[in-house]
Amino acid sequence: MPLNKIAVSGKGGVGKTTLSAMLAHIYARRGRSVIAIDADPAGGLAEALGFPPDLVAQVTPIAEMDDLIYERTGAKPGTSGGFFTINPRVDDIPDRFSVSYQGIRFLRLGDIEVGGSGCICPESALLKALVTHLILYRDELLILDMEAGVEHLGRATARAVDAFLVVLEPGRRSLDTARRVRQLAADIGITNVYAVGNKVRGESDRAFLQEHSPVPILDYLSANTELTEADMRGEGIFDAAPETVEEVERIIVALEAL
Ligand SMILES: Nc1ncnc2c1ncn2[C@@H]1O[C@H](COP(=O)(O)OP(=O)(O)O)[C@@H](O)[C@H]1O
Ligand SMILES: [Mg+2]
Repeated sequence: MPLNKIAVSGKGGVGKTTLSAMLAHIYARRGRSVIAIDADPAGGLAEALGFPPDLVAQVTPIAEMDDLIYERTGAKPGTSGGFFTINPRVDDIPDRFSVSYQGIRFLRLGDIEVGGSGCICPESALLKALVTHLILYRDELLILDMEAGVEHLGRATARAVDAFLVVLEPGRRSLDTARRVRQLAADIGITNVYAVGNKVRGESDRAFLQEHSPVPILDYLSANTELTEADMRGEGIFDAAPETVEEVERIIVALEAL
């Protein structure tokens, strides 16, 4: 079955942005219209996609658009406990605040200051409404590059997420994160959670992940210095790492066969 909405999660540094950028380019080159959402405060997706720096410079993260947040929710960002609308208008935001390059539309959500018990504030309401709109009402193939959680997703969107991918690397911490992320996903009703084993150096890494992964593993991506070198140059990874492109194509085959 062709996929339409894909979310990518996992521990920091594990390869979420790498996988997201690869998926976006592969689908764009197949002629799909793709929207790639950088939902990780750490950022970096535009660079991994190879967007030119002057284009990236035009993108303001939505969470930093104080006037827009105020206009749409009726409350100033950073305030909580007051009244603000929880279903603000968002349908014009994707086209107005994104940039496009090589068939990929790019949008950056940005960082929200989260207090101890989570943030119930106007900016998080706007981002959640935006992600809900993108998932439920836009046709594009959507790739959501997230942090290690389910931020911005909720019960309303859970069933529309075709694949929730958790990236793993050979190491305990990424497995612990995967276990936690799987639980958070289950809590909001996302069950189609699959893992991608990344940075695999050989058979023993595969065996380790296979044995310990809390989530069924679709396939593996080999450790590839072309990826790290492209990252060091600050360049896009699609043209730099053809072997990884092939491996991600295999992951797409596995996903579509599910
Ligand atoms: N398969 C791989 N082989 C080698 N380096 C990788 C691989 N996947 C990711 N990396 C490198 O690891 C670092 C973190 O990757 P990134 O995709 O930014 O992780 P995340 O988005 O999960 O924080 C980057 O320098 C990236 O180039
Ligand atoms: Mg990232």
